[in-house]
Amino acid sequence: MSESVLVIGGGGREHAIARALAPDCDLYGFASNRNPGIASLSVGTETGDETDTDGIVDYAETVGADTAVVGPEASLQAGVADALNAAGVFTFGPTAEAARIETDKAFQREFMAQHHIPGTPGFETFDDADAAADYVDKTGDDVAVKPTGLTGGKGVRVTGDQVTHGEAVEYIRESGHEEWVVEERLVGEEFTVQAFVHDGDVLPSPAVQDHKRAYEGDEGPNTGGMGSYSDARLTLPFMTETEYDRAVEILEATVDALPEYTGVLYGQFMLTAEGPKVVEFNARFGDPEAMNVLPVLETPFLDIVDAAREGEALPVPSFRPEATVCKYAVPAGYPTDPDAGAEITVDESTIEAAAAAHGGEALLFYASIDDRDDGLYTTTSRAFAVVGLADDIATAEAIAADALEAAGDGLRVREDVGTAELVQSRIDHMERLR
Ligand code: AMP
Ligand code: GLY
Repeated sequence: MSESVLVIGGGGREHAIARALAPDCDLYGFASNRNPGIASLSVGTETGDETDTDGIVDYAETVGADTAVVGPEASLQAGVADALNAAGVFTFGPTAEAARIETDKAFQREFMAQHHIPGTPGFETFDDADAAADYVDKTGDDVAVKPTGLTGGKGVRVTGDQVTHGEAVEYIRESGHEEWVVEERLVGEEFTVQAFVHDGDVLPSPAVQDHKRAYEGDEGPNTGGMGSYSDARLTLPFMTETEYDRAVEILEATVDALPEYTGVLYGQFMLTAEGPKVVEFNARFGDPEAMNVLPVLETPFLDIVDAAREGEALPVPSFRPEATVCKYAVPAGYPTDPDAGAEITVDESTIEAAAAAHGGEALLFYASIDDRDDGLYTTTSRAFAVVGLADDIATAEAIAADALEAAGDGLRVREDVGTAELVQSRIDHMERLR
C-alpha cells in the first residue's frame, strides 16, 4: 500500500509540491480553492479554510493520511503542523512556534541579533506606530519599514527606492498596524536559498532570484512574486560560489540556534558589497521559488520527507543541472486593482510546442483560479505560472515566454523575468557595487 500524503495549500507552490510527491504516493489536497493541477494529481481533494486546524485534521483522518506537507505560512502560523503531528500525521513543516522566524518579523530580527547570526542588518523594533513613525521621521538614513506580522509580501516600504521618508512616515501612521520593524536599507541584488531542514540537517537547493515588483524594470508595487529564475548550478550569474556558501552558512547558523525545526527554511538574501545579508526568513517554500527548484530535484521529495519522519539523516538531494525560468500570469490590474472573473484559456499544445521549439521542457502550474463548471476564471491573485527548463537561462526564458502565448486575454506577465538583458543588468549592478 502506498503512503498517503496530504498537501495543504492551493497555489502554484503547492502544485509544484504535489507534482514532486505524486509519483511516489497517494496524494490528497486541502486548500481554500480548487486547484485543477493539484486535483488532477490527487486521489481526493477538499476545499476549506487553510487555517482551520480542526477541519484539516478531520480531513487527514478521513482519508487516512500518513504524512502531510504544508505550503502556506498562514497555515503554519495557525498551528496546522502542531495539530497534524498531535493527531499522528507526521508533518513536514514547522510548528507555529518555530514558524515565528517568518510570522513575527520583530522576533526574527531579535533572534538573529541574540544568536549573532551573520548577515543581520541594523534594526529597531517598535510596538507603537507613532514611535516608529517618529523614528523614521528623524533618521537621515534610508530604511525598510515592516509591519511585524504576515502581509503576503506586500507590507514592506523602502525609502530611497519605493517611497520618500515622508511617505514612509505617513504609511506607518495610516496603515493600522502598531508593531513595526525599521531596519537599515540593504542595497544589492536579492536572491533566495531554500533548504530542507530536519534535526539540525540543512540541505540547500539552487539559488533563485524572484521578482517582487509588479512591472518590468522593477517598477510598481510589491506583489507575491511575478516570476523567478535559477541557473544550471547552485549559484546565480551575479554571485560567486563563496557568496552562495555564505548564504548557506547563515541558514546553518540559524537552524543551529533554533530549538527544533522541520520543513523548508527559506532565506531571502540581499547580496551587498559586503556579502549576503538577510532580508527575511520564511518557514516554507517560496512561491514562485518552489517552481524553480522542485522540478530539477532528482531525489524524490518523498524520500526527504520520509527520512525526516523516520528520524533518519536527510538524503543529500541532487539537482538536474538545468536552468529554470518561471513566469506568472496574473489578472490585469494585479496587485492594486485586480480584475477577477476573466476567463482563462490555457492552451496546453502551445506550452508543449514552446518546449519542443527550443529543445527544453515546459511545465504549467495552476495557482489562484476559480475552477467553475464552465471553465477557469481569474481571482484577485496570481492565476498560473509557466516554467521553462533548459541548459541555460536564456533558453529557459524563451520557452516560458513562448508558452505564455497560451495565456488568454485579461492576464498580464512580467516579460523581462529571465531575459538576457535583465540577467546582465544584475551582473552589472553587482560589479558596480563591488
Ligand atoms: P519581505 O516582505 O520582508 O520579503 O520584504 C519585501 C521586499 O522588500 C523584499 O523582497 C525586498 O525587496 C524589500 N526589503 C525588505 N527588507 C529590506 C531591507 N532591509 N533593505 C532593502 N530592501 C528590503
Ligand atoms: N517569493 C516570496 C515568497 O514566497 O514569500
